Amino acid sequence: MRQLICAGNWKMHKTAREAGAFVDTFLPLARAVPERVEIVICPPFTALAAVGSKLNSGRIRLGAQDVHWEESGAFTGAISAPMLREHGVQYVIVGHSERREYFGDTDLTVRLKTAAALAGGLTPIVAVGETLELRDAGRALAHVALQTRAALEGLSESDIARIVLAYEPIWAIGTGRNCDPAEANAVMAAMRACVPGLRDVPILYGGSVKAENIAAYTAQSDIDGGLVGGASLDPASFAALCANAGGA
Ligand code: PGA
Repeated sequence: MRQLICAGNWKMHKTAREAGAFVDTFLPLARAVPERVEIVICPPFTALAAVGSKLNSGRIRLGAQDVHWEESGAFTGAISAPMLREHGVQYVIVGHSERREYFGDTDLTVRLKTAAALAGGLTPIVAVGETLELRDAGRALAHVALQTRAALEGLSESDIARIVLAYEPIWAIGTGRNCDPAEANAVMAAMRACVPGLRDVPILYGGSVKAENIAAYTAQSDIDGGLVGGASLDPASFAALCANAGGA
């Protein structure tokens, strides 16, 4: 059976205190989640320590939402891979569409961040996805393939084997309008084929994933879990989602 990943992307939600309270409630609920589901929580930087100290060395992994491509330097406001590692971070989301839209992340900086995450011992969750305009123009596949190739350019085969990809159609994020699972699966199968070495790389679907619909995604041939925004903010709903992903 394939290993699955459910990653909660909290975005700019929860103070350290609120994040700690989430984990206290979530941990006992997460015991019902099948072992084949790797649970990742990606809080804001300021809550990493609070969440990390409660997770200890358990089965739930800590993730961050962004990373800078340099290890240190004059980059006001930025956080590097070694700084994240120090807090026990194992995963980092790179290239989320909100970073691309509001913070100027480009294909080039996504590539640099992906390489920096790998060099720093983190697993990048590289996010790609098309706008509604591109989808309606029939260009979703081409766009997603372009973003995927750009993000992975120059990586060795062994590095590519260590990444996670996420397909998040922008029109499905936070809208309640999730992409049809079969349609998402077709895009993800095409992503797998667009760069050598992606055959066994986990690809997550993101965009209005909920406890009620996750199983329809993980039942697909090329979908290895979910990248979850809104439904990861409540401990009971995220625990149910993770359990349903694994068919519990
Ligand atoms: P959503 O967000 O689950 O709230 O749609 C997903 C994401 O942006 O990663």
